[in-house]
Amino acid sequence: MTQNLAATSRPDAAPTAQDGAASRDWWRSAVIYQVYPRSFADSNGDGMGDLPGVRSRLPYLRDLGVDAVWLSPFYASPQADAGYDVADYRAVDPMFGSLLDADGLIRDAHELGMRIIVDLVPNHSSDQHEWFQRALREGPGSALRERYHFRAGKGTEGELPPNDWESIFGGPAWTRSHNPDGTPGEWYLHLFAPEQPDFNWDSPAVADEFRSILRFWLDMGVDGFRIDVAHGMVKAPGLPDIGGSEQLKLLGNDVMPFFDQDGVHEIYRSWRKILDEYPGQRIGVAEAWTPTVQRTANYVRPDELHQAFNFQYLGTHWEAGALREVIDLSLDSMRPVDAPTTWVLSNHDVTRHATRFANPPGGTQIRTAGDRELGLRRARAATLLMLALPGSAYLYQGEELGLPDVTDLPDEVRQDPSFFRASGQDGFRDGCRVPLPWSGTEAPYGFGPVAGGPSWLPQPAEWAALSVESQTGDPTSTLELYRSALAVRREHPALGGGTGVTWLDAPEGVLAFRRESAEGSFVCYANTGAEPVRVAAPGRVLLASGDEPVVDGGETVLAPDCTSWWAV
Ligand code: GLC
Repeated sequence: MTQNLAATSRPDAAPTAQDGAASRDWWRSAVIYQVYPRSFADSNGDGMGDLPGVRSRLPYLRDLGVDAVWLSPFYASPQADAGYDVADYRAVDPMFGSLLDADGLIRDAHELGMRIIVDLVPNHSSDQHEWFQRALREGPGSALRERYHFRAGKGTEGELPPNDWESIFGGPAWTRSHNPDGTPGEWYLHLFAPEQPDFNWDSPAVADEFRSILRFWLDMGVDGFRIDVAHGMVKAPGLPDIGGSEQLKLLGNDVMPFFDQDGVHEIYRSWRKILDEYPGQRIGVAEAWTPTVQRTANYVRPDELHQAFNFQYLGTHWEAGALREVIDLSLDSMRPVDAPTTWVLSNHDVTRHATRFANPPGGTQIRTAGDRELGLRRARAATLLMLALPGSAYLYQGEELGLPDVTDLPDEVRQDPSFFRASGQDGFRDGCRVPLPWSGTEAPYGFGPVAGGPSWLPQPAEWAALSVESQTGDPTSTLELYRSALAVRREHPALGGGTGVTWLDAPEGVLAFRRESAEGSFVCYANTGAEPVRVAAPGRVLLASGDEPVVDGGETVLAPDCTSWWAV
């Protein structure tokens, strides 16, 4: 189906994921592709993606040239937060398939030389989790209540929440439960939706259970875990009030009594020991929104996790000065702990970078389509820049097709729980979760098996032209750009590996750096400005995100919003 550019250049691909020495520290420079299962591929035509769908598309991912696949949650869940509300950590939700499908998926991926990372959601469970249901049923005093944060309310009748914490999705972070006899009872803590009660990590039963869940999936053969809300879990003793209003504005800027508490690191030290018991370098990657890159580095100390998403980078606009600053800061912060920087531009929680860069700087939740052409040009340039940096990089499904966010979804189809809680932080995450277009001219564009069949979110009509089928073989397409970029990255040892970049003098608005390796050096130019810029040509062009720069008399012109890779 696809033109096989990358697969031919995979001589070093690990035949299986657990072969140890041949693939030492595979994760340090790995390109990891995030699959959001409900929106990737639907095998049975119910409008919802599933594991057999993912399995059938693994050859596509192999041909794209990624090293590993991270799957967002596919566990048994009432889907109050698209699967980040887990009712059974050891079961696959029937909507996604079965454990047998998960097993087949892991095996197939390994046979194709790719690794599988699964999502682990340890900060909270679903309110339908057996423990929580029993805790409710058994009432105050039940030992199971110790596994969550149940508290008596304040006020004369216990009618006020136990403290002033706000939910990330808006509204109070507490919901009052009912006693078994139906009268109002204790309150329970949920940093996210009320259907997502927070675990109490001081409870040894919780810690034991998660060690066992880790082993369950490691025994299934997974190569690692993406740890959801890795900065949560441990709460400041006594659950102290924060004070003031607009708490959500402090998130990610300040240490909160429920986020980035030092106690979380103890948990990761115990998990690292388990990961290290298994062959083949199984890894943990932290989804930790911390105030600074330096605090992010704490999660990847040598005896903790392996990677932590660099959200400060994700949050930086397409602007040379700011980018250079965050790149330097990131590399400098990771060096002392000897961890790679983990670059990322898009995921299922933020507006896709093609749409962020189509708009003026404005954070990671953008609600307007902006200038699409500009956004795509910059997105392609930003991706080549990211893939030229030392460290590991995460791609989010559909960015290789240049997909924008769908900013005009009708409210009736939205499912993001924070959309329904007015003051929530996110709320518009459905826009980046629209099912992928694979082929054909009629929705769901090959996402499901039948033309005219359903998809859980509607796809825009323009997506026919963005499908995998439409882009394959078109050298100007974003898909072929990604395929070429990953193929070049595999071949060129100066890319991805190493720990630093050497900045070169460059005109304003341009980022220029050199990367060295024993086999040869490499130069990356990224022009973030609106004007073409003339510079010395450092060698031979390997790849460009726009028109290939022409070398003339030792000089070349860098087009606006374009990144180019050069072999020196
Ligand atoms: C993480 C997930 C997000 C989810 C939240 C609560 O941030 O990425 O999708 O809503 O955790 O689990």
